[in-house]
Amino acid sequence: MQRFVPVLRNDNVDLDLISLINTLMASCKEISFRLHQGELADILGSTLDENIQGETQKKLDVISNQLIKDILLESGLVRAIASEEEDTIVAGSENGRYLVCFDPLDGSSNIDINSLVGTIFSIMEVPEGQTGATEEMFLQPGTQQVAAGYVLYGPSTQLVLTTGNGVRQYTLDNTIGEFLLTNEKMIISEDTQEFAVNMSNQRFWQAPMQQYISDLIAGDTGTRDKNFNMRWIAAMVGDVHRVLTRGGIFTYPTDTKNPKQPNKLRLMYEANPMSFLVEQAGGVSSTGYQRIMEIQPTEIHQRVAVILGSKNEVDTCLGYHK
Ligand code: F6P
Repeated sequence: MQRFVPVLRNDNVDLDLISLINTLMASCKEISFRLHQGELADILGSTLDENIQGETQKKLDVISNQLIKDILLESGLVRAIASEEEDTIVAGSENGRYLVCFDPLDGSSNIDINSLVGTIFSIMEVPEGQTGATEEMFLQPGTQQVAAGYVLYGPSTQLVLTTGNGVRQYTLDNTIGEFLLTNEKMIISEDTQEFAVNMSNQRFWQAPMQQYISDLIAGDTGTRDKNFNMRWIAAMVGDVHRVLTRGGIFTYPTDTKNPKQPNKLRLMYEANPMSFLVEQAGGVSSTGYQRIMEIQPTEIHQRVAVILGSKNEVDTCLGYHK
C-alpha cells in the first residue's frame, strides 16, 4: 500500500500542489471523524440559515465549510477560495498560487438519514501576472484545473483524485490517519446497463432527455433492445463514485420545474471537478450540447446540465440532442 504523496511525486506533481492536497485532506479527515460520530456529537439537523443558493444549511454544511476554509486560507498556498456555502470568494494569502473551489458537503440531505455524502474540490492556478484576489480569477474553464477530486464519507472514507494523469482511489486508514492507495487506475467501462437520474422530474425535461430515458425504460421491448437498471443516491458524489467504480450514466438534465433555476448542479465545484475525473477515467461529460470542461464560466455559482459516464452510453444520449 502506498500513501498518496509518494505516488504523486512519481507523476512530477508540483510539491506545492501535493502540500495543498495534503492540507485539504487534513480537514476532510476531521469531517470524516465528525460524521462518524453523528448523533453523538449533536451535529445533525439544520441551522436557521440559507446559503446563497436559497437552500437550508445543515449544521454539518457549516462545520465542514469552516474546517476547509480555515485550513486552506491559513496554508499560505491559496490566493482565494470559492465555496458553495459562501456568497462570494474569500481571499487567502497574497502570494498564494492556487484557487480552490469546493462543495464542503455534497448531498447534505443525506446527512440525517446516515447515508452517503462527500466533499468535492477543484484546484486551479492563479492566472499569470494577476495580483490580489478577484472573482474574475476563478472564471476559467474546467480544462484549466490542475487537480480535482472528492472525498466520499461512506462505510469507509475514500479519496478519488486526479492531477491530470489518470484517476487514483485512496482509502482512509483510521488506525494511522492516512489515505492509502487502493486503486491505481480507475477506468469507466465504455458500456453500461445502469442509469442514474431523478425520475420524479421526468415531465419537466426537454424532449431529447424525455425520449432517451423512455427508451432506456422500454428496455428489450424498445429500440435499445436491452434492459437497464436504475440507481439514485441523491448525492452526486455517490452517484459519480458508482459510475467511476462500475460504469453507468448519471444525469441531472435541464428542467422546467422551477423556471428561475433550469439547472441544478453547480459548474465550478460540482460539474467541473467530476468532469475532470470522468474524462481522466475514459468517460465523457457534457451538457448535452457542449463539453462541460470547455464552458467559459460567467459567475462562481452558475449551474449547468450534466450528462456523464460510460463513453458509449453518453454518446448515445448525446445523439438524441443533435
Ligand atoms: O448538490 C446538489 C445535490 O445534492 C446533488 O448532489 C444531487 O445529485 C442532487 O442535489 C439531488 O437533488 P434532488 O434529489 O433534489 O434531485
